[in-house]
Amino acid sequence: MFAQKLIVPAFAVIGAVAAQTTNSVCSQATATINSQADATAFASCSTISGSVVVSSAASGVISIDGPQQITGDLTCENAGGLTSFGSTSIGSIGGTFTLNNLTLLSTLSMSDLTSVKTIAWTALPALSSLTFPSTVSKATSVTISNTFLSTLDGINLDTVATLQIDNNNRLKTFSTQVSNVTSAVNINSNGNSLDVSFPNLIWAANMTLRNVSSITIPSLATINGSLGFYGNYMTNIAAPNLTSVGSTATGAGSLAFVANGKLANISMPLLKTVGGADQIANNTALTGISFPALTTVGGAIDFSGNFSTPELPALTNVKGGFNVQSTAQIDCSGFQSEAGSGKVIQGTFICKTTADATTLGSSTTSGSSSTATSTKGAAVSYGVNEGLMGLSVIGGLLQMLL
Ligand SMILES: *[C@@H]1O[C@H](CO)[C@@H](O)[C@H](O)[C@H]1NC(C)=O
Ligand SMILES: *[C@@H]1O[C@H](CO)[C@@H](O)[C@H](O)[C@H]1NC(C)=O
Ligand SMILES: *[C@@H]1O[C@H](CO)[C@@H](O)[C@H](O)[C@H]1NC(C)=O
Ligand SMILES: *[C@@H]1O[C@H](CO)[C@@H](O)[C@H](O)[C@H]1NC(C)=O
Ligand SMILES: *[C@@H]1O[C@H](CO)[C@@H](O)[C@H](O)[C@H]1NC(C)=O
Ligand SMILES: *[C@@H]1O[C@H](CO)[C@@H](O)[C@H](O)[C@H]1NC(C)=O
Ligand SMILES: *[C@@H]1O[C@H](CO)[C@@H](O)[C@H](O)[C@H]1NC(C)=O
Ligand SMILES: *[C@@H]1O[C@H](CO)[C@@H](O)[C@H](O)[C@H]1NC(C)=O
Ligand SMILES: *[C@@H]1O[C@H](CO)[C@@H](O)[C@H](O)[C@H]1NC(C)=O
Repeated sequence: MFAQKLIVPAFAVIGAVAAQTTNSVCSQATATINSQADATAFASCSTISGSVVVSSAASGVISIDGPQQITGDLTCENAGGLTSFGSTSIGSIGGTFTLNNLTLLSTLSMSDLTSVKTIAWTALPALSSLTFPSTVSKATSVTISNTFLSTLDGINLDTVATLQIDNNNRLKTFSTQVSNVTSAVNINSNGNSLDVSFPNLIWAANMTLRNVSSITIPSLATINGSLGFYGNYMTNIAAPNLTSVGSTATGAGSLAFVANGKLANISMPLLKTVGGADQIANNTALTGISFPALTTVGGAIDFSGNFSTPELPALTNVKGGFNVQSTAQIDCSGFQSEAGSGKVIQGTFICKTTADATTLGSSTTSGSSSTATSTKGAAVSYGVNEGLMGLSVIGGLLQMLL
């Protein structure tokens, strides 16, 4: 084993990696690799104690073979001539594995990698697949953005806090065995035929899916924060085991289905509570809405579209308002009898058949709403900000409206 105490200041090392003794090569704050010869200098290190930067001057093939571990970060940015990068030996990276703006990188091969603290890969336009036979199963944060990847096979997480997958235009499938996502899942703008599957996911703090073609969440039971589906292409969203979204104690955490043009069926047969708002808007193919087990909504119920009378047979407590507007004939009498102080629906009540069905959050606040209350003016900002803000913010705004 090499002594790991010897930390050579970065300024003394840059450009002089090969000149160090073996010990100091393995243990320096930041080692810079400019060429394969620099990478080969690490061959006898079992652990690289510190961070490794592959400089923008690196080109062709760079493989860091020998070390099993990097305790710090592994970074490679702006190396326009790099075509292949990897390691046959590195099993874990203690810090962030950054790959950014590598225009020719077409091969990323890490035969032994299983654990990384953070994956941050952006702007890898030539990278079409990963060669990660050991499969990365542990990561705190994964961001994969703007790549040419058509699959993320090789990344199959047991644990993750944040998962951000966006702008990978060729990505067709993403599946991960993760059972808990402790901070957030955010999947958006990955071309228009991405099938997403979380076969074992039981709970996630927040989940937002945009521009996805199908979603499989058979085991999902709890979303602690918000769950949102925006601009997706699937006909069906089924969450057969989902019982709660958000927290009714804090009134935070919303459920939203917005602008899913093909969505015809939402199936959440066990969903009992939504902490914030329950919003359905601009899903043009959705002709029926049913939440058979929904009892408590901490925010508002806000449904607009062209659907028959929503089925909400178990409702006992809506702390916010109730806005249901449909271009189809709906029967509001049952809901009307539940509205009023001390009754099921405690906030503002709107239920109607109308040619211009609008949500409370919509930017097109129509003046024709006879039952509108004085607080509706702020609704404009809710609609405008939807694309820019997090769901929890929207839920908060919607609650403030009511
Ligand atoms: C990306 O890397 C190239 C070199 O390959 C460089 O010229 C360019 O400025 C970099 N782009 C950004 C946005 O940093
Ligand atoms: C996921 O969360 C559940 C409930 O909090 C816990 O029992 C389980 O151990 C967690 N699983 C993992 C892989 O962290
Ligand atoms: C969900 O995301 C929001 C906004 O990013 C954050 O404030 C909140 O803490 C998250 N919820 C959970 C349960 O982590
Ligand atoms: C659904 O939840 C029940 C009770 O929590 C659990 O026993 C069952 O395994 C879950 N189903 C799936 C498909 O995960
Ligand atoms: C989310 O909810 C699950 C199930 O109730 C719970 O085990 C987990 O600790 C919660 N996570 C957070 C971050 O609150
Ligand atoms: C992706 O989803 C967003 C909504 O989050 C939507 O505005 C956008 O038009 C969608 N993009 C495509 C290509 O469908
Ligand atoms: C909606 O989907 C659920 C579950 O996938 C299915 O059982 C149900 O029959 C579907 N309903 C309609 C009207 O298609
Ligand atoms: C509403 O849907 C029905 C079919 O279910 C259709 O005939 C009607 O034209 C739709 N109305 C609007 C305003 O889209
Ligand atoms: C629904 O679509 C209309 C028209 O494009 C838009 O003004 C409104 O803001 C959308 N509603 C939501 C909740 O996004």
